[in-house]
Amino acid sequence: MAVHISNDVLKRRGLFYSLRSRPLQTIYFRMKRAILERIRVYRRRKIINKLKSFTVSPPATITLGENLELKNLGKFREQFNSEKYTFIKDFFCTDTYNKICDSFPHEVFFNYPKDGTKFYSWSDESRWIRGRNNTTYTASNGKQFFELYPTLKNLYDFLDSSEMSEKVKIITNSRDAELSSIAITRAQEGSFLSPHLDTIGENRKAGDKVMCNIIYFLLAGGSSPEHSGGTGLYLDNEFNNPIFIPTTMRNSALIYDGVEQFYHGYDLMAPGSFRWAMVFQFKLSEAPL
Ligand SMILES: [Fe+2]
Repeated sequence: MAVHISNDVLKRRGLFYSLRSRPLQTIYFRMKRAILERIRVYRRRKIINKLKSFTVSPPATITLGENLELKNLGKFREQFNSEKYTFIKDFFCTDTYNKICDSFPHEVFFNYPKDGTKFYSWSDESRWIRGRNNTTYTASNGKQFFELYPTLKNLYDFLDSSEMSEKVKIITNSRDAELSSIAITRAQEGSFLSPHLDTIGENRKAGDKVMCNIIYFLLAGGSSPEHSGGTGLYLDNEFNNPIFIPTTMRNSALIYDGVEQFYHGYDLMAPGSFRWAMVFQFKLSEAPL
């Protein structure tokens, strides 16, 4: 859960919704959301029927890029160890990357935002959470989705493989690393992610299991990374003191320690910009050394 959000930042961007202090704006937002969601559900059925004849064949294997070969992991491990985050370009090899781009889901699979703090589209039916039967691709709500996008099914399997776990263990200097969840997101002009802390960072006690977040930027464009959804790390919740802002958002990944008190978010996206991204969470056995 996101905490420590600045209401001032939201107010200045017209994204503050509170029934008590801004009733008209809040009611308008909720009505708009309800109507757009109804339209989406209607369109989704039609699009699924059309998409059945346009499926993309999945790649035989999912392969990581050269930067994730064992011999090249040292510098990312060092940076993660000292700064609690690292950024890896060319995350997947070119063939895999192209296939994932070819399989990015249609907009009808993404829900309209629920509030102004996470003002971008989120895909419920492609959501995967370990241990929850209703969020796997064998569950009825995900089955149809993964039949249409078999490349994503292969990708999810790969992320849950021992090969991927080994890489995360090395980078984060952890004894164990287990995939915990996957989310696919879509953002465009006007989207916004309020700088926030994750609750896991707040309530941690010594010895607790910790999380690491991997934001995988698949494709973005239309403006600079800062203004096309480049999730950055900040010392504050108003974008005043950046620690790191991604330099490219095509096949790159920002990996950060979930218990570090990093504010993360991105400012209003510029007209014409777009961003396709995924978030992978790994549960680590112990705090990185
Ligand atoms: Fe977060």
